Amino acid sequence: MAKNKLRKFAQFDAMENTFDYTMHHKGNWAQEVFKNNHRIVLELACGRGEYSNALGALYSHSNYMGIDIKGARLWKGATDALENGLKNVAFFRAQIDHLEQFFDAGEISELWITFPDPQPQLSRERKRLTSPKFLDIYRKICKSDTLVNLKTDSTLLYDYTKQIIEEQGLEILEDNSDIYSGNEIKPELTFKTYYEKIWLKEGKNIKYLCFRLNKI
Ligand SMILES: C[S@@+](CC[C@H](N)C(=O)[O-])C[C@H]1O[C@@H](n2cnc3c(N)ncnc32)[C@H](O)[C@@H]1O
Repeated sequence: MAKNKLRKFAQFDAMENTFDYTMHHKGNWAQEVFKNNHRIVLELACGRGEYSNALGALYSHSNYMGIDIKGARLWKGATDALENGLKNVAFFRAQIDHLEQFFDAGEISELWITFPDPQPQLSRERKRLTSPKFLDIYRKICKSDTLVNLKTDSTLLYDYTKQIIEEQGLEILEDNSDIYSGNEIKPELTFKTYYEKIWLKEGKNIKYLCFRLNKI
């Protein structure tokens, strides 16, 4: 690993707003970590945590946790959160595949999935973060009325997710295949992640889906 990455990785563990594969707070994240009883929103595949930090600054009455496996990327999000005094934002290094080990049933109120790898090969379909396998993992830790927000540049992942939503009879609340095409968008959609900026430079359309995790 490059020296700079190693340094960030070491610092990551020492920060007050970071957690690494711990089961210690399962069921009590809000009370023990955020010192409140506010709802918890997860940003999955958060990378450098732009969404967790921006949403945390916008909505002080929710707690935000960015989750990724890459410590050096999380370090950036955690550093920005500390510099901006965001007490309602934390970063957690963990495999999304094992979320139920770290969170209790019903502990999570909302999900954001920001520019996840589309995993285009059919053989890797189960690795897509909106596959039935992952939706079932989310159902183990989320409240029954949880909304899932997906932001992606990938037409494949966008179409695939809509197909899964239809197959599972879930409700779509918002579906926008080109969020910057004209009409005003809600503040939550205006934040741009590291990868989003790359895809925008390449001229890609940014797509957004908001759907219910469970049937009503
Ligand atoms: C394309 S990047 C997007 C990062 C960020 N959301 C952005 O838009 O800049 C995808 C991220 O997903 C993370 N990731 C992929 N699969 C994961 C998994 N199973 N568990 C945790 N993180 C995962 C990767 O480490 C990577 O940082």
